[in-house]
Amino acid sequence: MKQIALLGSTGSIGTQALDIIRQQPEKLGIYALCANNQVELLVQQAREFLPDVAVTANKFKYKQLKEGLKDLPIKIWAGIDAISQIVEAEPIDIVLMALVGYIGLKPTIHALKAGKTIALATKETLVLAGELITQLALKHHATILPIDSEHSAIFQCLIGENPDTVERIILTASGGPFRKYSLEQLQHVTKQKALKHPNWMMGNKITIDSATLMNKGFEVIEAKWLFGVSPEQIQVLIHPQSIIHSMVQFKDTSIKAQLGLPDMHLPIQYALTYPERLNSYFKSLDFDEYSHLTFEKPDTVRFRNLNLAFEAIRQGGNMPCILNASNETVIDAFLQDKISFFAMSDIIEKTMESTAFIASPTYEDLVETDQITRIITSKEIMKRQIE
Ligand SMILES: NC(=O)c1ccc[n+]([C@@H]2O[C@H](COP(=O)([O-])OP(=O)(O)OC[C@H]3O[C@@H](n4cnc5c(N)ncnc54)[C@H](OP(=O)(O)O)[C@@H]3O)[C@@H](O)[C@H]2O)c1
Repeated sequence: MKQIALLGSTGSIGTQALDIIRQQPEKLGIYALCANNQVELLVQQAREFLPDVAVTANKFKYKQLKEGLKDLPIKIWAGIDAISQIVEAEPIDIVLMALVGYIGLKPTIHALKAGKTIALATKETLVLAGELITQLALKHHATILPIDSEHSAIFQCLIGENPDTVERIILTASGGPFRKYSLEQLQHVTKQKALKHPNWMMGNKITIDSATLMNKGFEVIEAKWLFGVSPEQIQVLIHPQSIIHSMVQFKDTSIKAQLGLPDMHLPIQYALTYPERLNSYFKSLDFDEYSHLTFEKPDTVRFRNLNLAFEAIRQGGNMPCILNASNETVIDAFLQDKISFFAMSDIIEKTMESTAFIASPTYEDLVETDQITRIITSKEIMKRQIE
């Protein structure tokens, strides 16, 4: 049985991962559950899955968690450093990383150094520290298995293929809720509208990233590091139905694709049980219901974040880290109604121009870059704050 440390158990990916684990009690077990503020849900999950350890990253929630599980022999830890520590535990086979944003970096580094297999949902980790993470994985013989549906698709298309024969990767994108909005309409987008994705039910941060296309930009960077391709070999293609999860074109022009309904359960299960393919209860794709699969080019005039992400990865160094920190900061501000939807790209671009560039950043440089970028972005936000 594979023992799993589930980081972000109370989130969208985390709860779907528990659906899978519930269905595969002979193959998958829970060693640790880690979350942040939703302690009631964490207690409920721990009562069902009986992990060895339950962790809340929020130290102020320790008492509540301890109290909720006091009749069970479950160790209770608190604090983000506790999460970094728990992933190193000997019995763990897979660390399922589904925290959101920068916070995932440190526990991922600890897990890699301990040689654990990482089932990676938290794409921001590869965005902000792709070189460091892939080097650590190599050095410690740790495997990174993608959970993002697009990268899971690419990973599946590449099985049995010689990586040198890859011509390009075609990353599909739904286009988000504002695919057909004009520039004028985009000026008046509300957070309520931005939080409604047409095809996927996800956490707030990634839902906003999908609406701005930053999510796709991040996935370009993620693909570069996971599959060792150059940004020029990655094409983004809008495919509103989200049925083809991504494709790989080979040098002989043959294209392989992976298809399925838009449901994260499948890529999560595949990452947790790889290289096995298990029976599942998921609804399968019925082509009668999807007789029209359509494709279009992304519009980078209305959705500038995609170009910003390509620019960041072309520059390399700490620029993707700047991109990520600025993006997390503007999303917080947008969700607090401080800035408009449209202002987000402007502020990120300005921050990328004004934050110090480091060509070969160390881990410490990345930590500092993240902090400085958040300060610079916050100043830009104040200048453009909605009255
Ligand atoms: N959702 C999807 O369909 C999807 C698809 C592909 C990739 N991803 C990626 O997967 C990651 C997770 O996405 P999600 O949609 O599952 O997010 P989510 O629903 O917002 O869940 C985030 C999880 O992280 C925890 N968390 C948040 N802040 C934390 C902190 N400071 N310290 C420790 N834990 C913290 C939350 O705990 P509490 O809830 O207890 O506060 C929650 O368990 C993201 O990087 C996203 O890009 C998601």
